[in-house]
Amino acid sequence: MTFKRSLLTAALPYANGPVHIGHLAGCYLPADIYARYLRSKGEDVKFICGSDEHGVPITIKAKKEGITPQQVVDKYHKIMGDAFKEFGISFDIYSRTTSKTHHQTASDFFKVMYEKGCFTEEVTKQYYDDEAKQFLADRYIVGTCPKCANENAYGDQCEKCGTSLSPTELINPHSTLSGSKPVLKETKNWFLPLDKLSPKIKAYIEQHKDWKSNVYGQCKSWLDSGDGLQPRAMTRDLDWGVPVPVKGADGKVLYVWFDAPIGYISATKDLTPDWKKYWCDKESRLIHFIGKDNIVFHCIIFPAMLMEHGEFVVPDNVPANEFLNLEGDKISTSRNWAVWLHEYLLDFKDKQDVLRYTLCANAPESKDNDFTWKDFQAKNNNELVAILGNFVNRTLVLTHKYYEGKVPEAVEYTKDDLRILEEISKAPEKIAAALDQFRFREALAELMNLARMGNKYLADTEPWKLIKTDEKRVKTIMNISLQITANLAIVCEPFLPFTSKKLFGMLDMPALKWNSAKHAHNLSSGHKIGKEELLYNKIEDPEIEAQVKKLQDSKKLNEEQQQSQKSEVKSQKDEITFDQFEKMDIRIATVLEAEKVAGTDKLLKLKVDTGNDVRTIVSGIAVYYKPEDLIGKQVTMLVNLAPRKIKGIESKGMILMAENSKGELSLVSPTREDTNNGSTVK
Ligand code: MF3
Ligand code: ZN
Repeated sequence: MTFKRSLLTAALPYANGPVHIGHLAGCYLPADIYARYLRSKGEDVKFICGSDEHGVPITIKAKKEGITPQQVVDKYHKIMGDAFKEFGISFDIYSRTTSKTHHQTASDFFKVMYEKGCFTEEVTKQYYDDEAKQFLADRYIVGTCPKCANENAYGDQCEKCGTSLSPTELINPHSTLSGSKPVLKETKNWFLPLDKLSPKIKAYIEQHKDWKSNVYGQCKSWLDSGDGLQPRAMTRDLDWGVPVPVKGADGKVLYVWFDAPIGYISATKDLTPDWKKYWCDKESRLIHFIGKDNIVFHCIIFPAMLMEHGEFVVPDNVPANEFLNLEGDKISTSRNWAVWLHEYLLDFKDKQDVLRYTLCANAPESKDNDFTWKDFQAKNNNELVAILGNFVNRTLVLTHKYYEGKVPEAVEYTKDDLRILEEISKAPEKIAAALDQFRFREALAELMNLARMGNKYLADTEPWKLIKTDEKRVKTIMNISLQITANLAIVCEPFLPFTSKKLFGMLDMPALKWNSAKHAHNLSSGHKIGKEELLYNKIEDPEIEAQVKKLQDSKKLNEEQQQSQKSEVKSQKDEITFDQFEKMDIRIATVLEAEKVAGTDKLLKLKVDTGNDVRTIVSGIAVYYKPEDLIGKQVTMLVNLAPRKIKGIESKGMILMAENSKGELSLVSPTREDTNNGSTVK
């Protein structure tokens, strides 16, 4: 099937935090490379993205920051949009799901499906937090994944194995709002009967054996797994989101994974009145760039929605990436184990392309991959500086030196020259072949091969020596080198747009498109090139060490925080019955006398009035209280504890004390003065 146009989407990121390298490597960078490539080829393409502003991730963030969900999304929508722009991610629109267009579009989408009878209406028991007075959907509830035993699976998905879940499938569920064990409460919701749609979805997936194997494989395994697809609620008992547009749905909103992908449609509407051309015409190709945790939603649930709705095309491809790790550890926002784009730019000003290059060269295309600062440095110094930068620099410097910046004419080609020219003209094809299959690493390697070839050509021909003996030959060599430079500027544009722009500037030529790189004659002789400047600079060890240290510091801080959180509160003991509790006789008593027990630091011998009697007791509080301070104090005491001999003194009972996380003791006393001795504690 050939297509007339392409609509590319990159997953709408939750507007609940800044952007890090994992986001970029996962989908925004490959999507951007692909979009730029298609544009360069002159194809009709639109590249769509925006902020995902609904759902529990937003309301959780709002609670944490003590602001409203709207304030959260306003803040992060701007931060994220700016970060993408700074890194050259060339969306045709960066929209948002709180927009009017989107609310209307999502609402209408639901209504159409509702009226067609696509949903089943079901009253089911859903988990409810009695303390927070709220239903626990999606990320409000965590528990153990029934498929892979991950203990931190969410109520709608296990991010470890990708499986989509319902809260009731979680083992050991608990509320992320209060930590409490949820109770079941009845509520009505609208379900998409994925079980019934399963044959249709299966047929759709099976038509796409061409998808990346990690994507196709995951889909197949869900479809073929034991109980197959399950009906899935498309509405939620929450107050942040798109209101469910039917009667009897007060206080309910659309499930965030129902509304968010519709955001691709709304964003296209906001972009162009011609949006239907991209969404409703079979000759349009819809491609979703996502990370692997989004596969089930883009390959199964959204296509099912689109098929049921009926007016739209379904995704033609979903080139999902795996995850990028950082220095051997999973990237984590909460643990601050990340390289944030805005922080990167503070330390590496104008080096957007270095990060783009490293992330593309290391893209987690078929398996999880690791970003390390050492590798980042090596990629910059050994590849960008030593190969691409070096070749361009030598070419431009020599052109200025020998020809006052004027492109010399190719006088006569040798056999070797002809071979080189042939190689040059093949480069765009090789790069394109890899890009067409979403093999970005391979495509980038082909691009570098072109620069490598140029470098080798100069090293082999040595024009700086030849200039003394064979001026004619040098002209041809420099002409060819300049043609390679121009072609590099063209084909590097999708990957390294800042470099490309600089290169065209240095050559003082208009930015040419992809097909021009299919021959090696883009610079005519006599054309005067501009001033040369270095494309890249070496990154020195101290710069890299500082980055590694920053990460280590954040790891240390985290471990300390976790430790102190752990020691703060001891976990609760095993349950006991009320009868067991009742056996303890706890009373208020007053200290009458107090003295240190000879030969110990910790023990005090006390005489106390329990209301019933006066007795002797030995207590380990000497470190915290002086004997004279205790006399006359009311304390809480377990009076029916069997007597024990401590340091030869018979102690009858036990004074109760609170112990804090540092192990320090405090007496527990009644707060009302008229609590007389012998008052019971229950
Ligand atoms: N916000 C989701 C995430 O960050 C992605 C949503 S993609 C869309 O995982 F299709 F729903 F838009
Ligand atoms: Zn799992």
